[in-house]
Amino acid sequence: MSARPTERMVHLRGGGVSLALGVEDTARLLYWGPALPEGVDEGGLRASLPESGIDAPMFPPLLPASGWGFWGQPALSGRHDGGGWAPRLRAMGVEATAGRARIAHEAEDGSLAVVVDLDLDAGTGVLRACAEVTNRAAEPYRLDWCASLCFALPAFLDEALVSEGAYIREFQERRVALGAGVLLRENRRGRTSHDAFPGVVLGERGFGAERGAVYGFHLGWSGNHRLLVETRPDGTRIVQLGELLHPGEVVLGPGESYRTPPAYAAVDGGGLNGLMARTHAHVRQRILPRQPLRTRPVHLNIWEAIYFAHEKGALLDLIDRAAKVGVERFVIDDGWFHGRVNERAGLGDWWPDEGKYPDGLAPIAEAVRAKGMEFGLWVEPENVNPNSELYRAHPDWVMELPQATDPERWPPGQWRQFVLDLGRAEVADYLFDKIDALLRPGYIGYLKWDMNRDVAPAGVGGEPAYGRHTRTLYGLIDRLRAAHPDVEIETCASGGGRADWGILERTERVWVSDSNDAHDRLSIQRGFSLFFPPEVMGAHVGRERCTVTSRRNDLGFRAAVALFGHMGVEWDIRALSQEELADLAAWIALHKRHRALLHGGRSVRLDLDGVEATGHGVVAPDGAEALYLVARLVTRPAPIAVRLAGLDPEGTYVVRVPEPAPDGALPWGRESPPLSGRLLGFYGVRVGLGRLDTAVVLHLERVG
Ligand code: DGJ
Repeated sequence: MSARPTERMVHLRGGGVSLALGVEDTARLLYWGPALPEGVDEGGLRASLPESGIDAPMFPPLLPASGWGFWGQPALSGRHDGGGWAPRLRAMGVEATAGRARIAHEAEDGSLAVVVDLDLDAGTGVLRACAEVTNRAAEPYRLDWCASLCFALPAFLDEALVSEGAYIREFQERRVALGAGVLLRENRRGRTSHDAFPGVVLGERGFGAERGAVYGFHLGWSGNHRLLVETRPDGTRIVQLGELLHPGEVVLGPGESYRTPPAYAAVDGGGLNGLMARTHAHVRQRILPRQPLRTRPVHLNIWEAIYFAHEKGALLDLIDRAAKVGVERFVIDDGWFHGRVNERAGLGDWWPDEGKYPDGLAPIAEAVRAKGMEFGLWVEPENVNPNSELYRAHPDWVMELPQATDPERWPPGQWRQFVLDLGRAEVADYLFDKIDALLRPGYIGYLKWDMNRDVAPAGVGGEPAYGRHTRTLYGLIDRLRAAHPDVEIETCASGGGRADWGILERTERVWVSDSNDAHDRLSIQRGFSLFFPPEVMGAHVGRERCTVTSRRNDLGFRAAVALFGHMGVEWDIRALSQEELADLAAWIALHKRHRALLHGGRSVRLDLDGVEATGHGVVAPDGAEALYLVARLVTRPAPIAVRLAGLDPEGTYVVRVPEPAPDGALPWGRESPPLSGRLLGFYGVRVGLGRLDTAVVLHLERVG
């Protein structure tokens, strides 16, 4: 690359990572990877970029747009009324500190200003990127797209890991070989979605749990999004993430600005486990509303136990048994509020149903608290059923429906519910007042905030209002949290339809999936774990025969899978024998014994194929202990050879199979002789699991 002597270099450092930018007439990424030495040679950094040539006349700047003749996917696109679609954005200056850079751009004709903010976390090395566009012209500017982050990365990143899925099959991973063209993932469903998690990992060929350079990207946003990886003819990979905007959704008047949601990005040379160490630390230290989280109480959620049939005797029985097995938080799910006989009635009427709870919620809450448990409650504030007092009084409070819609028939195929326009002050005030009234007596310690519908179509005043919904939702939750700072919130959207770092800034738990099928949960939880640590991962022991898949699994397998998250029970435990109750209690006790490790350690995935076998673990930050799960997914009478990642190679460990996990899978019975950490990690152990849907739990203690 020819020298550009006037180009100023900015070198951000943090968390063992360097990010170098060159700023001249445009700003471009020179390097982003493991930390470089101080005073690194600028010429050398520039030489790492490809030469310009006929296939790539310019190296993509941080804000590639059409005005400079850049012919790839622009990072900014829009149009001023009356003309002006291809601004030539010049970098006007950069303010930089050790971990931050703020690069101001202006269009040559003065019509637009764009600021790119990059913030590299000193501890975790995770980068946070945002952009802000301001209309400086006299005419309105119709913004079509503004990426929160746009980075051009080297060609050696030739594989991507994307998250796919569906309801009850969230966070399914797929590897994609990158080649010419664009890998595009979009979400137009108005909430984060089950099928298009806003995250991607790019890595060098063959990257794995412990191997290879990887770059992870995530958009911290609970609405529509767009994520793309474009490969240029010279092999450069251009990654962009941002909010997907519908036509007319953002029109900036003179002087008005649009700020993108934050994109997060991390790089690590140690494969997916290295990346996870960064993303988990970042969630723990920077994203969660409370740091550190309080000890995560074991849940019992009544949904799959009794559904809508809330009856006092049944609830008291469940409360009694929950306390006996060691549950610490008892959660009343859907069905408690006015007129909620089934899913077609009641949403919007947020006070206790007079038939089911004649004396309100207080007596049940007090029964829960008398047993030493916390009381939690389900709500779904954003929606209203046409069959509700709220809708009858304020049919105009919902977002616009397609014209001539019969409310009883719309939306087709979804529950009979509409999305409220939270952008109207009276709607937000109504919801705040109703939830505030529930929380004010002080006996509710936790809300499960559900959202069982896409926010689509989302129109207000004849214009698209998707982003407005997400922003006003955040505002409502923030207001409630400010008024009730001790109440925890779980995010749920028919399972894992709203899991992202935007909602996680205001919630402490994610309901990851409505599938409690332990077999399916293994891949769901594995995919989820790339960007979320175990303590926010709601994981329940469901009934023996899973409600949504009909698969039968024994308690040991179900509990072993739930053990590694924020554990809970979602099962009618009134029907359990004394022996089963004792078994369940023993699993809960095992979780509590290792809770500090599980929720504070370093998560690792084991390099197994995910088809025949899978596994994961958590290692204490100092390597002194670890807990692993190895599971068989198909029947095959051959042991599983597995390398236990994350251990101290210089240490000596004793491997134990803790009660009540079944033993028999290891040659030594329940306890091994002292074994070298290097042997266990580098060469591995053979785990004798032959039958599908069986798992072994291993606890390792360093003894030397
Ligand atoms: C969907 C959630 O994912 C379930 O856990 C449950 O709360 C139901 N909604 C209740 O309607």
